[in-house]
Amino acid sequence: MRTYFDLTGRSALVTGAGAGIGAAVAEALAAAGAAVLVTDISGEAAAKVAERINTAGGKGAGSKAESAALDVSDRDAAVAAAAQAAALGEGNLHIVVNNAGVTSPAMFPKLTDETFRVTFDIHVMGTFHVTQAALPHIPTDGTGRVINVTSAAGLTGTLGQVNYSAAKAGLIGFTKSLARELATKNIMVNALAPLAATPMTETIRTNEKFAANMMNRIPLKRWAEADEVAGAFVFLASDAASYITGQVLPVDGGMVM
Ligand SMILES: NC(=O)c1ccc[n+]([C@@H]2O[C@H](COP(=O)([O-])OP(=O)(O)OC[C@H]3O[C@@H](n4cnc5c(N)ncnc54)[C@H](O)[C@@H]3O)[C@@H](O)[C@H]2O)c1
Repeated sequence: MRTYFDLTGRSALVTGAGAGIGAAVAEALAAAGAAVLVTDISGEAAAKVAERINTAGGKGAGSKAESAALDVSDRDAAVAAAAQAAALGEGNLHIVVNNAGVTSPAMFPKLTDETFRVTFDIHVMGTFHVTQAALPHIPTDGTGRVINVTSAAGLTGTLGQVNYSAAKAGLIGFTKSLARELATKNIMVNALAPLAATPMTETIRTNEKFAANMMNRIPLKRWAEADEVAGAFVFLASDAASYITGQVLPVDGGMVM
């Protein structure tokens, strides 16, 4: 009999996990039994999430968490974090979640080289660094997963976010090409396009005009909390997704269909 969602014995590294979706994903993976390295550019924020997981007993029996400061644009820090996460999994790093992200919105004529570059550095180069650092530690027995976080912006475009949309669309190409390369190693590579009430979306949720515009686009007519979208990450990380690779899964109340 197959067990589908039990991550006991697996280790995971989640980037940008000091807040929002990343924190919820770290907690959900731990609740499913994984040992999780919670990382964030803010080491302090990451440490708080790891502490929350450990004091909750990780909800899943036997799960545990550690934390590390990791700015994903720093390759050396990514190499160190990957090794730390692998040590949590007795030499294996099963699940990599490339979640760290920023937005820097401006209408196109006002976009600067600097905001374009920083957005790419964090989303695309960051995912490149962390995944390449993790790869030597990812097992080839069918349990290895890379989960990248893209966005509806990368699938359909968004006003005032040419830099962010370009970076998120870049991650879709990244995901599909890497999925083809790593299929021979039995490692699944997928992307998820979430929508959730987090610090990142606070401005669009609290500005009356932006909020109304968003509600018109969401068929379910509500925002998800971060822990509601986290379940889809557990699914992609789990044995239930052992025959899924190179896909982009929107988890957004039906906004992209
Ligand atoms: N919230 C949404 O509705 C939504 C929609 C589509 C895509 N996303 C994507 O989901 C991911 C998480 O978004 P969120 O809403 O939780 O954002 P958030 O702003 O709430 O949290 C992002 C986290 O990333 C960290 N971070 C920022 N720069 C970093 C860096 N260089 N290295 C490491 N960590 C860094 C921040 O400190 C923060 O803890 C992002 O990739 C975002 O683009 C979010």
